[in-house]
Amino acid sequence: MDQPFRSFLRALPDFPSDLPNFDPAEAPSDPSELFRLWLDEALAAGVPQPHAFSLATADGSGELSSRMLILKDISADGWEFATSRTSRKGQELSINPRAAMNFYWPQLGRQIRVSGTVVLLSAEASARDWAERPGADGSSNDSWQLYALRPREMEFWQARADRHHIRHQLSFPAS
Ligand SMILES: Cc1cc2nc3c(=O)[nH]c(=O)nc-3n(C[C@H](O)[C@H](O)[C@H](O)COP(=O)(O)O)c2cc1C
Repeated sequence: MDQPFRSFLRALPDFPSDLPNFDPAEAPSDPSELFRLWLDEALAAGVPQPHAFSLATADGSGELSSRMLILKDISADGWEFATSRTSRKGQELSINPRAAMNFYWPQLGRQIRVSGTVVLLSAEASARDWAERPGADGSSNDSWQLYALRPREMEFWQARADRHHIRHQLSFPAS
């Protein structure tokens, strides 16, 4: 008989054994600075798309969906991403402007969660993002929208070999 799927999954590789140290007391107090530090370390560790994250959204009745996106910037407006307003996530954000991001960098055993309220950025900034994307052909896209997530909660998570994983949690007042 085939090995049960449960056992097969159990035997798959776990976190690498040489995980980095993380001491929240030593971390920069600005979370975007800490993110950029970790992003540099993810690149150095060979994470192929460290700026990719999953974005979870919900519709008006709480039905959830998630997908991968690319982080465009971290600015005074928030954590920026872009998509079509007519997409499922675009429609969900128009009725329920809340979302949760999750970055995962397995080579380092690191996960970063960011959740909060999403706002629409300007038509000019959206058009600029569309024009700057790789493979842009000079065409315009009126439904392309740059969004910014304003964090309410964040968590920097570091796996440890002894399983005493480190969770550095931050929360911010509603703006
Ligand atoms: C690594 C990765 C990055 C992606 N980046 C984007 C992105 O920045 N914007 C976007 O609209 N879709 C992006 N996609 C496609 C989305 O995951 C998704 O399929 C699409 O936006 C439709 O999602 P929705 O139907 O849930 O709205 C990316 C997919 C992958 C796998």
